[in-house]
Amino acid sequence: MSLRLGDTAPNFKAQTTAGHIDFYDYLGDGWGILFSHPADFTPVCTTELGRTALLSEEFRKRGVKALAVSVDPLDSHKEWVKDINETQHCTVDFPIIADPDRHVATLYDMIHPNASATATVRSLFVIGPDKTIKLMITYPASTGRNFFEVLRVVDSLQLTANHSLATPADWQPGQDMIVVPAVSTEDAQQRFKDLKVVKPYLRYTSGPK
Ligand code: BEZ
Repeated sequence: MSLRLGDTAPNFKAQTTAGHIDFYDYLGDGWGILFSHPADFTPVCTTELGRTALLSEEFRKRGVKALAVSVDPLDSHKEWVKDINETQHCTVDFPIIADPDRHVATLYDMIHPNASATATVRSLFVIGPDKTIKLMITYPASTGRNFFEVLRVVDSLQLTANHSLATPADWQPGQDMIVVPAVSTEDAQQRFKDLKVVKPYLRYTSGPK
């Protein structure tokens, strides 16, 4: 059965470039990003893993741990990491799961048979501290994902989780946010700065007080 937003992210144990892990133990109480790529030693994937490594401080600041997966074996991952570090000028500091038996790929429905019978597509899941799935995106093999967009969504998700704030179209950090409908305008006046009530259902704020 395929996963949907709000579902519990399935736990698993796996061999990775950082040793054997239990997914939930690896995440601890924080946020996680689990993302698949089609195969090792492929060009788009090389840039994606490099970008993730270069953004490692941004993920760390947000309490997000990254975890990549492909159906290639561990020895291949280890050799490929050397290439990623060399060509992308980075240090891959997050684990890459070796999933030759497709256990993780199957649990997360990452193989789309009409795209490829054997390789995972570019699936990405953001998982919250409660271990539920907060975001799912699926890209084709030929299109590298935008990891700045992933960070932007994490910022939005964390604003909602911590402050009952949503984010408007094309929002970027520093811009006004939207008070979620579940908060009354009376409460919003107590909790948020610069409240602008455009409509009873459309209320902007520059942030929590
Ligand atoms: C890749 O780098 O993974 C890739 C690039 C083009 C087509 C398919 C896959």
